[in-house]
Amino acid sequence: MDLIAHLRAGLPAEAILTDPDVTGSYAHDMASFCAAGTPAAVVLPRTVEQVQHVMRTATALRVPVVPQGARTGLSGAANASDGCIVLSLVKMDRILEISPVDRIAVVEPGVVNAVLSRAVAEHGLYYPPDPSSWEQCSIGGNIGTASGGLCCVKYGVTAEYVLGLDIVLADGRLLTTGRRTAKGVAGYDLTRLFVGSEGSLGIVVRAVLALKPEPPQQLALAAEFPSTAAACEAVCEIMARGHAPSLLELMDRTSVRAVNALAHMGLPDSTEALLLAAFDTPDPAADLAAVGALCTAAGATEVVPADTPAESDLLLQARRLTLTALEGLKSATMIDDVCVPRSRLAEMLDGTAAIAAKYDLTIGVCAHAGDGNTHPTVCFDADDPDESRRARESFDEIMALGLRLGGTITGEHGVGVLKKEWLARELGPVGLELQRGIKDVFDPLGILNPGKLF
Ligand code: LAC
Ligand code: ZN
Repeated sequence: MDLIAHLRAGLPAEAILTDPDVTGSYAHDMASFCAAGTPAAVVLPRTVEQVQHVMRTATALRVPVVPQGARTGLSGAANASDGCIVLSLVKMDRILEISPVDRIAVVEPGVVNAVLSRAVAEHGLYYPPDPSSWEQCSIGGNIGTASGGLCCVKYGVTAEYVLGLDIVLADGRLLTTGRRTAKGVAGYDLTRLFVGSEGSLGIVVRAVLALKPEPPQQLALAAEFPSTAAACEAVCEIMARGHAPSLLELMDRTSVRAVNALAHMGLPDSTEALLLAAFDTPDPAADLAAVGALCTAAGATEVVPADTPAESDLLLQARRLTLTALEGLKSATMIDDVCVPRSRLAEMLDGTAAIAAKYDLTIGVCAHAGDGNTHPTVCFDADDPDESRRARESFDEIMALGLRLGGTITGEHGVGVLKKEWLARELGPVGLELQRGIKDVFDPLGILNPGKLF
């Protein structure tokens, strides 16, 4: 029996796509310059049993499987390989339970992040992780890449909210990890192991997520700085003095200008760095006043607090638009997400500017400044071979700089295909060997998302 006939034995006909015009649109996520192959089929299961059938089939026929969420990833981790089964979880999109007492939600992997956020808000609860793509990205994808977002500076990343998982293993067995309790230390923390595993260890089919009580609406301010270094000094002061902003983001001049060009937002575009800070505390105006004073002391030329939550939202929207806006500057972009200790952020940004000058490139930077997580975005003309080469080299140099500063090559987008060669450098030979060993335990045939990570 061939692959499609095997799949048909356990899946309804409409859950299997084979038309190349259709399957081609499932070939890659949103990362640029990452190789993608041609899938043999795309399957869209609706039940755990159907996922198990897909994995049993893949194991029997030794066919690679590429798990996919909403394909908003930025590292190529969801890219198809030739002849693979693309296993899209988007149709498994039910919220199974929201418990205000246990402060958990139980969801299927295809639930869209913003849909979950709105659903739990109706119960006075809050699911914090908020990647910029939150209106599109799925919880399964967020778990696969250990996504971050804008509020992580106060609330942490996806990993901190995943309590337990149901996982279909490579051979089709069902594994339940973790718990739905507030505490739990029984055995190795396999739940955490799966967060950020980029579909290389198993298929998440259900997740128990921790929730927080909904905080008051946040209020933001924007501070203009004559240099990114001055803005970073403000960031360090804000954190060193014990403030707990719910957002602390930086946009450099190139980013500010790009957003204005795209959305006419009237951001101050002669400033070198714009710092956005927000508080969702009981008295956000008081916290903003204190942080505004720290900004001024660090050299801010202007500090503009938003008067209303609507004005604050507008500032956030400007930030969320940054990467789209930078994409408009040239025919292609490469988005980095190097994360350094926040005490080294100024060096990271100055070093990135030096790399842009060295390679004669436009590199716009926005950053989750409070996390030390930067998004240097190399903008270049893909039809120009020399500029493309310089773009790739500068991208590599930015990662080398991040590692030198005690950082990581990826704070939140993952390794995928994009940073594969760099993972070994960060982990070192011992770390790499052990990680490969773990992969072998879960996926001895090497059929789960091959060619990613290592
Ligand atoms: C952001 C995504 C790209 O911060 O990580 O906008
Ligand atoms: Zn980000």
